[in-house]
Amino acid sequence: MKFFLDTANLDELKKGAAWGVVDGVTTNPSLIAKEGIPLQEQIRKICEIVDGPISAEVISTDVDGMLREGREVAKLHQNIVVKCPLTRAGIQACSTLSKEGIRVNVTLCFSPSQAILAAKAGAWCVSPFVGRLDDIGLEGMTLIRDICKIYANYGYKTQVLAASLRSPLHVVQAAEAGSHIGTMPFKVLDQMFNHPLTDKGLDQFLKDYAKAFQEAPAGR
Ligand code: E4P
Repeated sequence: MKFFLDTANLDELKKGAAWGVVDGVTTNPSLIAKEGIPLQEQIRKICEIVDGPISAEVISTDVDGMLREGREVAKLHQNIVVKCPLTRAGIQACSTLSKEGIRVNVTLCFSPSQAILAAKAGAWCVSPFVGRLDDIGLEGMTLIRDICKIYANYGYKTQVLAASLRSPLHVVQAAEAGSHIGTMPFKVLDQMFNHPLTDKGLDQFLKDYAKAFQEAPAGR
């Protein structure tokens, strides 16, 4: 499964990219607003940090506006993926942009029927939101499993991008379900490293070595 960071924060992206495990980036209007920098300016900077698909979401809600914004943002960099919401207008825009060779991420997907529409419209990927379904008392991960199964049944090329992942367990479950991509906040990627037995084991290894050779390990 590919790992995308769900953030527009440059420091977080630099840290994640330095670890060598980040394959791409997703943003949304809320994440861009949080950084206080206009979308195109911030997206350009993100493209300099991560060499992989970078999703930039349109703000317009009508087809013409989405097409205009999508074509404009796609010109910024070859790695741009235009993000359109899963509305009637968004699906129509996805269909047109995809035919023009522009990759589209259809976002705000909350049902298998919506995901089928995204695939039919030629989306490069669909973003089902796991955490937001959990928030309303449903089991978000079931949606990922259902979409993976349906896409496999018909050989749809659209990739499943598990979004709104809120914990390392979500990431693992999305991978088990066969999701092609998982996008997560920096905090979740960071949490994935943690295990008390790793810390305990490393501590013991270094203590044993130091005791045997009467020397303190570098930096300790
Ligand atoms: C995905 O593209 C979205 O930006 C994101 O995953 C939403 O996550 P949230 O529901 O935690 O805001």
